[in-house]
Amino acid sequence: MAFVRASIREPRVPARRLRLQMLGLSVLLASVTLLSACAQPDATPPAPSSAATPSRTPTETAAPETTAPETPIAVPSAPAPAAPDFDKKRYSIDDPSSIWVVSNKARALSPADFAPADLTLPVGIPNGNSQPLREPAARALERMDADAASAGIKLSVTSAYRSYSTQVSLYNNYVARDGKDAADTYSARPGHSEHQTGLAVDLDDSGGCSLEACFANTPAGIWLAANAPRYGFVLRYPDGKSSITGFTFEPWHFRYVGPELATEMQNTGVRTLEEFFGLPAAPDYI
Ligand code: DAL
Ligand code: ZN
Repeated sequence: MAFVRASIREPRVPARRLRLQMLGLSVLLASVTLLSACAQPDATPPAPSSAATPSRTPTETAAPETTAPETPIAVPSAPAPAAPDFDKKRYSIDDPSSIWVVSNKARALSPADFAPADLTLPVGIPNGNSQPLREPAARALERMDADAASAGIKLSVTSAYRSYSTQVSLYNNYVARDGKDAADTYSARPGHSEHQTGLAVDLDDSGGCSLEACFANTPAGIWLAANAPRYGFVLRYPDGKSSITGFTFEPWHFRYVGPELATEMQNTGVRTLEEFFGLPAAPDYI
């Protein structure tokens, strides 16, 4: 029985040894193969460096890659933050040549006699005084006029760019006619007018409400109030905002700021540049 037990058990020992030996041999063979592969040059050598692939500096070449300190791999734990909705600092509100410049009674243009460099006449729209606009505003007005015409509205320009000296004459005439206090409610003093930036335009439709509050109720006034932002224009002096803008309601006065800002203001319901940019109200000159 003891023999039987032994005979049964004995063969198991050599078999296990054999398996272990074979396993050891396999590991040894695998290690040798791996070491051999590491010692070989790459089967596909790197392409010669080109202008788009800067060659390594001698220092980089000398440093063995295996000894380079490990760089921790950043594992994002949360989605990247969303892009800011609207960059309110994209353009200057101080530079008179910026399409976002904000001029009011508290913010004089600087220099006071600023004149834009890219004035051009809008094409195809009646313009009795032949006053130009800055190039982007002129092109935008042309597009807006064409689409208004398609909607049956015939726009015309009552006033556009006015130089410092033109504003001096205009303002002084109003003061002579109505007195300074009254003139200050509807006419900007020289150096404070948006018309001097070449970005403001007074529009009409020859319907008898030129430069009158009733323009707001004409087909042109209604169409412009709804559609001008798509072309980059904002109604700069809205009804009920004179304590902020400093000027009475001017449904004819449109200021070019670009479609991004104009539609952002329309979409958010912010109606004045002062409120949008967090500027102080400007009811009076300071
Ligand atoms: N009517 C506007 C305020 C201007 O004179 O610029
Ligand atoms: Zn105006």
